[in-house]
Amino acid sequence: MADSDSRAGLRYADPDIVAFCDGVHVGADAASRDAFDAPDKEKMPAIMVGLSEGRLLGLLARMVGAERIVEVGTLAGFSAIELAGGMGESGHLWTIEHEPRHAAVARKNIAGAGMTNRITVVDGDGVEELAGLEAHGPFDVVFVDADKARYDQYGRWARAHLRPGGILLMDNAYLFGRLLDDGPAPAAMRRAHEEAAAHLHSVCIPTPDGLILAIMPTPR
Ligand code: DHB
Ligand code: MG
Repeated sequence: MADSDSRAGLRYADPDIVAFCDGVHVGADAASRDAFDAPDKEKMPAIMVGLSEGRLLGLLARMVGAERIVEVGTLAGFSAIELAGGMGESGHLWTIEHEPRHAAVARKNIAGAGMTNRITVVDGDGVEELAGLEAHGPFDVVFVDADKARYDQYGRWARAHLRPGGILLMDNAYLFGRLLDDGPAPAAMRRAHEEAAAHLHSVCIPTPDGLILAIMPTPR
């Protein structure tokens, strides 16, 4: 059931309800859980997606039969491990991280998950390193969770390198509640929304901070 309040954004979830649902659906998965817990232990910013959002990313990858995935913004590797969990055994995921310390922690977690040969952590700047990944495409999934002021650029890259039926996913689509503010990051994020809507089949899923899901059109 929904009502006008919940449709407008009011949440029924509270921390205990979220913890119960995260625990039932995701909590037992030790590999990704270590990566989820790593930022606190390693004194990194704990800015990864939630446990259930990570699982959603993996399920979406599974739904499109993903074999080639690109992620921008690795942090400790939690979302990369969840996304890769939705790929076939022969799949590969490339994830770009600009902070060397975060990349090192991610590599450790990816090794712990037994996914070293299926996930490549690419050190460097998001926009610059994407150019170097083009030869591996076209891709089934592009997940953007990086510097917010360049989301429009990341969205354009994804459109050029996703296969028909491939999906673009973008975290923080509400921009921490600042989507409608002035400034370069809100403007870039609004452009990312508008261009996804103009060129793909898109929706902003009302996760806590919004998740754009956009599917590349298939010729009919
Ligand atoms: C921040 C970045 C994110 O991608 C996120 O999901 C939450 C916070 C940040 O930069 O603060
Ligand atoms: Mg994010």
